[in-house]
Amino acid sequence: MRRSKGRIIIMNKLIKHIGVFTSGGDSPGMNAALFGIVKAASINGIKISGIRRGFEGMIDGDFVEIHLGTIQEKVSQGGTILKTARSKRFRTIEGRKKALKNLKDRGLDALIAIGGDGTFQGLLAFAEISDIPCLGIPGTIDNDLSGADYTLGFDTAVNTAIENIDKIKDTAESHNRIFIVEVMGRDSGYIAIHSGIGAAVDAILIPECQADFSALIQKISQYEGEDAFTVIVSEGDEIGSGQVASEIKSINPSVDLRITILGHLQRGGSPSAFDRMLGIRSGVAAIDELLKGEKNKMVGYFNNQLLLTPFDQVVKQHVINQELEKLLNMINN
Ligand code: F6P
Repeated sequence: MRRSKGRIIIMNKLIKHIGVFTSGGDSPGMNAALFGIVKAASINGIKISGIRRGFEGMIDGDFVEIHLGTIQEKVSQGGTILKTARSKRFRTIEGRKKALKNLKDRGLDALIAIGGDGTFQGLLAFAEISDIPCLGIPGTIDNDLSGADYTLGFDTAVNTAIENIDKIKDTAESHNRIFIVEVMGRDSGYIAIHSGIGAAVDAILIPECQADFSALIQKISQYEGEDAFTVIVSEGDEIGSGQVASEIKSINPSVDLRITILGHLQRGGSPSAFDRMLGIRSGVAAIDELLKGEKNKMVGYFNNQLLLTPFDQVVKQHVINQELEKLLNMINN
């Protein structure tokens, strides 16, 4: 270890060249994480190779250089300059072996991946055949990984959802309409619960809680069209926005009802201040931890610190904590 102008530089002879990629659904803050990685690598004299299109690019040997100046300019942009993909081929052992060969031919000493649930499943399978140390950064709007209180992009997605729900509430108020707003999140109700509570809606349906539908039906049976009524339905909810609309209509056929699906607009846009900081901090921490010899772990923001969680503990059944569940019940009842 040596000191330079007050900075601690950890010397590690083994790691001189790191491959980095983004994978799965893009999320705002991925570029900020890439900036953190490239900046920390340049301070430590490490070469970075970008791998385009996630696991697909690993299999195809699709490498690019990332220049510090270029990625510094992209911190304020959503999406990912490395592009991303969901890879069926990486689920096969042949695909993973081909990827490993390409990484070795490129001379990579370590890997950093930024992605969500599917990415960590891929990394776990890859670790079985690969001796290249790898760390992951949780990047997904769904906020569904154990070992991270907040995943990269979730905060921005929630802000985007709230901004749009607020707008829908304006028109709902003007017409005294019922609006069902479907938000993303796959099997996780986190976007629904945060955006629904933040926008002070009337009901929120999430996959993790079944009781909320009967509470909604109770409320709707007393509704006489005297005001606006907004329901947030998470896309993974078992009943689903279309069926919820039909049930409401069957109870109260005279209601004026519309459905809005927010969809992929929740994935784009300039990252929030929180996601920019989280991305940069996580990128720098990933380089530091690799240099300390860590491998096969996720660098997650947990209890206001960046902590490591082994890959096999990252992908677990997602649960809503008790305090949030209490808030949900308060809104729904
Ligand atoms: O995982 C992020 C996410 O946006 C989910 O919320 C959503 O279910 C899914 O990706 C959509 O995937 P795609 O962009 O492949 O349609």
